[in-house]
Amino acid sequence: MHDIIRQLEEKREQARLGGGQRRIDTQHSKGKLTARERIQMLFDPDSFEEWDMFVEQNCTDFGMADQVIPGDGVVTGFGTINGRLIFVFSQDFTVFGGSLSASHAKKICKIMDQAIKVGAPVIGLNDSGGARIQEGVDSLAGYAEVFQRNAMASGAIPQISMIMGPCAGGAVYSPALTDFIFMVEDTSYMFVTGPDVVKTVTHEEVTAEDLGGATTHTTKSGVADKAFPNDVEALMYLRRFVDFLPSSAKENPPVRPTPDVANRVEMSLDTLVPDNPNKPYDMMELILKMVDEEDFFELQPNYAGNIIIGFGRMEGSTVGIVANQPMVLAGCLDINSSIKAARFVRFCDCFNIPVVTFVDVPGFMPGTSQEYGGIIKHGAKLLYAYAEATVPKVTVITRKAYGGAYDVMSSKHLRGDVNFAWPTAEIAVMGPKGAVEIIFRGDIGDEKKIEARTEEYRQRFANPFVAGKRGFIDDVIMPHNTRKRICRSLRMLANKEIENPWKKHGNMPL
Ligand code: HXC
Repeated sequence: MHDIIRQLEEKREQARLGGGQRRIDTQHSKGKLTARERIQMLFDPDSFEEWDMFVEQNCTDFGMADQVIPGDGVVTGFGTINGRLIFVFSQDFTVFGGSLSASHAKKICKIMDQAIKVGAPVIGLNDSGGARIQEGVDSLAGYAEVFQRNAMASGAIPQISMIMGPCAGGAVYSPALTDFIFMVEDTSYMFVTGPDVVKTVTHEEVTAEDLGGATTHTTKSGVADKAFPNDVEALMYLRRFVDFLPSSAKENPPVRPTPDVANRVEMSLDTLVPDNPNKPYDMMELILKMVDEEDFFELQPNYAGNIIIGFGRMEGSTVGIVANQPMVLAGCLDINSSIKAARFVRFCDCFNIPVVTFVDVPGFMPGTSQEYGGIIKHGAKLLYAYAEATVPKVTVITRKAYGGAYDVMSSKHLRGDVNFAWPTAEIAVMGPKGAVEIIFRGDIGDEKKIEARTEEYRQRFANPFVAGKRGFIDDVIMPHNTRKRICRSLRMLANKEIENPWKKHGNMPL
């Protein structure tokens, strides 16, 4: 018995050391924490239960038979974050570069299966050299088993990937299948093929950072949702982030009591929209004044800035916020912003998070690059996402709601539950000038006539009342009361129930 206990302790000690002190030191010298340190930091103290610490790899090729490290390069288990159950896998770069063997994959699959069964989120802390090269197809099979579970878990439980080191080759597709990808600046990168292969195939010379670093994926590709300066900050933000989410699709997000009252009046909002309809203003100001305690977790802040997405709370309950940003591209909808918002709306709909939409949109972005890039299909994604969503939907039009973009942005016609407009709202097929130039083409050249026609059009449509008369707008509200009116609407909608027709699944325009 004593022998067994001693052996157990030795094995535990060996597992905790991973690839050994030298490799741990190397990890630290790169400014990275180890897999276990990350878990300690992420979870509530003493809450983490480790599974499969004694799992070993089974490969005997390439001298692997005598290279056995208990745990095999990934720490898995469950614990609590602010008291809520969360499953985790944390890849240990000190063990064969965190590479994925068949055993390593089985460990990940085990916690994913369990998380799906009990309805709790899975967080992956990724730090891996990819497929365990010595294992060949066994490793590829392991990846596919993980991918399959990512797809099955999608929409059932929240899945979050934190990229904290390399993530290359087909390995990127597991994070890509999860709901959110976060990265750590300077120490993480993601690409399908690395700089050497790129050089051989396309003769492009590019660094790993430029090809797939945090800046690239949070500004250019839109693959990652947010980047953090270092491991510690990343993990602290992750703790804050999961608090916005429910444990599964069967639950509501946790409610956090707040001293911020629902009927808080914000007089400054009455002058937020400038008199000149072509002058931009910062939509973020409105968002921050709407949510409890100005606590807004923005996603993709540096990508497709013409639309803002993120989580906040109203009366303590999580809301997903989607808002056009007039400061960037006049708030136009384009390919990137449509995709960004569509995926977010779908996440909210999967996980019982009401969507609050602030609209100031002059239309879809014109131009060949947009048309050739398929704005028709990509814009339709956002339309589809709003149309199929059954969660409570509250919309506030602050200024422009022109053309197809009016329809798309959670309009009444897409089952918007409560649709408000500010007195400054303009709801029309297009802006007055463009409209007049088309319907009174014969008058072009006669400045006076055009001006009069433009004014006539503005009087007729550049206000919320035409839409109000038809019931497309439920009420025209004073900007200073917006928080109160949204909170009341969300309270009224708390027990909303609607169902879409039975189907296996829809066929959204991908
Ligand atoms: C086995 C690996 C490994 C791997 C790294 N190591 N990657 N062992 N399989 N894929 C080991 C190294 O041998 C080394 O062991 C230790 O991990 C640390 O690696 P270093 O190279 O010393 O670290 P660093 O300089 O930081 O470079 C990290 C790296 C590099 C950029 C990730 O190791 C690398 O390029 N690895 C190979 C990446 C790769 O091509 N993977 C396959 C991708 S294809 P020692 O004993 O010296 O400490 C793929 C397909 C998935 O993943 C398909 C799914 C469908």
